[in-house]
Amino acid sequence: MTQSLLKEKLPRHLAIIMDGNGRWAEKRSLDRVEGHRKGAESVRTIVRAAREIGVPYLTLFAFSSENWNRPRPEVDALMILLKNYLTSELQEMLDREIRLLAVGELSRLPKEVQTTLHETMKKTAHCQGMTLTLALSYGGRDDILQAIRRLMVHCQDQSLRPQEITEDFFSKFLWTANLPDPDLLIRTSGEMRISNFLLWQLAYAEIYFTPTLWPDFSKEEFIRALLSYQNRERRFGLTSEQIRAEGG
Ligand code: IPE
Ligand code: IPE
Ligand code: MG
Repeated sequence: MTQSLLKEKLPRHLAIIMDGNGRWAEKRSLDRVEGHRKGAESVRTIVRAAREIGVPYLTLFAFSSENWNRPRPEVDALMILLKNYLTSELQEMLDREIRLLAVGELSRLPKEVQTTLHETMKKTAHCQGMTLTLALSYGGRDDILQAIRRLMVHCQDQSLRPQEITEDFFSKFLWTANLPDPDLLIRTSGEMRISNFLLWQLAYAEIYFTPTLWPDFSKEEFIRALLSYQNRERRFGLTSEQIRAEGG
């Protein structure tokens, strides 16, 4: 690869739908859980790479609100893997100054996972190298609905006028309140859909779809995705000419 990454054109916030663990395992006649185990290794590789390259915010879709409907043994195995991941990565997060956040309906997670998650978030709260957000029991529609419910309570208390509810104001009620909107969304495994991920937040994200299954997603391909992003012109509804005039 001749082109190299430009620091000033990196996505500020990169979101990833890590898909294809099950198919990776099935292709090898392995249990789907083996695919999730291998997928956790890709998480490690990509978190490290993102930190090294200098992506400020990385958000990973690890478990959707719909994934609760999978067979119980798979859900249980995913929860154990999640807890083990948090425990095994804590030292590395601290060493690399990675702050952990989580978005989603966290109260649905098993108690011991919630405890480990909250401890990890607390212990890494001071880290400023990168913000790693795990979307857990997350659904984009759930996110919007919980925001509206809280917003309505707030409106009753503060007697707000409808016109005060701007995009910025509303965004502060979403689980992602403290995160900028994603600039780039990567989805592995060849599926070309959003699957109820950050519906509001992805409004103007660039999207990179790849047929590679998540357990096979390498640092090299990650860099290729970032290069593809850097070669795009983000117009936000304007014309190319306007963007060039702005020096964008
Ligand atoms: C993504 O891999 C991980 C989770 C959704 C938890 P999948 O388990 O969806 O893998 P496929 O899509 O069945 O191959
Ligand atoms: C999306 O993958 C959720 C995660 C990656 C955690 P799914 O495999 O659940 O999505 P669908 O069902 O194929 O849309
Ligand atoms: Mg899938």
